[in-house]
Amino acid sequence: MRSKRCATVAEHLRGIAPAKVNFVLEVTGLRRDGYHEIDTILQALELADDVVVEFGALPGVSVDGRFAAGTPADESNLAWRAAEILAARCGAAVDDLAITLHKRIPAAGGLGGGASDAATVLQLLGRHWGASSEVIAEVANAVGSDPAFFVAGGGTARARGRGEDVTPLPDVPRQPVVLFVPESTIERKTARMFAALDRVPFDDGSVSEAFARRAPGLVTPAEIHNGFERVAFDLFPGLAALWEELESRTGEAIHLAGAGPTLFWVGGDSAAAAIAQAGAGLSCAVIRTTTRSRR
Ligand code: C5P
Repeated sequence: MRSKRCATVAEHLRGIAPAKVNFVLEVTGLRRDGYHEIDTILQALELADDVVVEFGALPGVSVDGRFAAGTPADESNLAWRAAEILAARCGAAVDDLAITLHKRIPAAGGLGGGASDAATVLQLLGRHWGASSEVIAEVANAVGSDPAFFVAGGGTARARGRGEDVTPLPDVPRQPVVLFVPESTIERKTARMFAALDRVPFDDGSVSEAFARRAPGLVTPAEIHNGFERVAFDLFPGLAALWEELESRTGEAIHLAGAGPTLFWVGGDSAAAAIAQAGAGLSCAVIRTTTRSRR
């Protein structure tokens, strides 16, 4: 969409957009608007995209970095849609605004990358255009269900409703997370995963409730729960085999990140290197990261 920059002196705003995993993800019912009620415990990660917003440039989105593939570089990009909606709310324009995303977060993997990019653009532009935090939150919800968590500061948080009703929780201690990212995902993944859950009993929110009341301390794999794990094997070709191989090599519980297909492990520092090594030679990218505290 954007091929070259204007020669005028451009103004830059820079930020980072963290990834997330869901320590708990319960889908508790179907709403009248076709969306699902969720009750989830989210955790921000140190793994993050770099986001640059530039004024005085040819308008559009450009995407680079190791995980650029799969992120749209056109007006369908969530970060661009967020900028357009916020501009309309603020009486501002996007016709000289360029967004550059340096992607370290794999696209459509269940790690919240697109939503986080959008949230960071909203925070950068919101500050620049003087938008209130209420307006930023409204625009975040207009863009999707996930940006609210990032706009609310990330860290460890519980989200309910469609995902927009965010309650921050005490940060968990900084601890390692290992991500195993399969090479392919599927079209309309999130919608298909939610639809598949309509055929099995819903969760009741009790696991999220228990996590929200847990005593401080390291999160262990046994505390992780994701309702989508009941249907993920059916939807993602090859995921069951990868999952079984990782669990057999590590001897630990490996879990689905969000609506997948990324798998993750969380635990203590001493085990992380061996867990990451277990992904060697399998058809997935292995990313070592850590939990990130609330901003
Ligand atoms: O929020 P987002 O646009 O990413 O969601 C993509 C699709 O996932 C929605 O169109 C809807 O079908 C489904 N979804 C849902 N319940 C949610 C979030 C998403 O059914 N809480």
